[in-house]
Amino acid sequence: MKGIILAGGLGTRLRPLTDITNKHLLPIYDKPMIFYPIQTLVNAGIEDIMIVCGGNNAGDFLRLLGNGSIFGLKHLNYAYQQGQGGIAEAVGLAEHFAGGDKVVIMLGDNIIEKNIKNAAEQFEKQESGARILLKEVENPREYGIAELDGDKIRNIEEKPKNPRTSYAVIGVYMYDNKVFDIVKSLKPSQRGELEITDVNNAYINMGEMKYDFLEGYWADAGESIEALLEANNFVKKYGANKID
Ligand code: DAU
Repeated sequence: MKGIILAGGLGTRLRPLTDITNKHLLPIYDKPMIFYPIQTLVNAGIEDIMIVCGGNNAGDFLRLLGNGSIFGLKHLNYAYQQGQGGIAEAVGLAEHFAGGDKVVIMLGDNIIEKNIKNAAEQFEKQESGARILLKEVENPREYGIAELDGDKIRNIEEKPKNPRTSYAVIGVYMYDNKVFDIVKSLKPSQRGELEITDVNNAYINMGEMKYDFLEGYWADAGESIEALLEANNFVKKYGANKID
């Protein structure tokens, strides 16, 4: 299974911090933000990782991360996304890297307290389809929100004005290789992006989406300056990426 970390986009919600650098290079306590999703994937046993960079200062990722030896990796792969055509567009850039394997995709601004190893192992056993992680939140208008039907997901709505539940889809997505054909079939949304929620709904409509609830703290640190500060404070106090 291959890992893909998405670190494109312009990070406009964190302006003016992101006017001078890339969102994923901003600090979360004592490390640059991008360190956290890399460590999450490494802790889940994924060692073949590609970082999709973009936006401002993309070259700094190379200088900071090099070949990934600080994470115990033998090498790191990179791709560059021109513009910000959406999360699903960034996923499409990793097709050649995936080379027919299953993939775990993680958003570069998501910070996770615990280990996602169990979910990744369950997905390894899954013959095909997709698997996502849900977390109950207090501000469901900011996320993709899942409506559940027992052990199935009925649908996901991206940043709903009137959320039907408070189950946010966090930024860890596990897909079989069909994801790349699904991405090619997508049309841009009203905000001009290829949406990851449309990818997830495609799997739901095929009856091939499974989910787990995430235990412990989760932050979308790119959501707002407040969210960034809260993530910093949490990590300082309690840490992140715990192994057990
Ligand atoms: O954090 C979880 C949420 O992430 C989900 O609940 C939503 O369904 C999902 O759409 C996403 O929402 P955001 O509004 O937080 O996405 P954002 O535009 O901040 O992008 C998240 C990461 O994806 C960002 O850190 C960099 C990467 N990205 C984003 C865009 C738009 C790219 O690599 N390329 C892009 O074009």
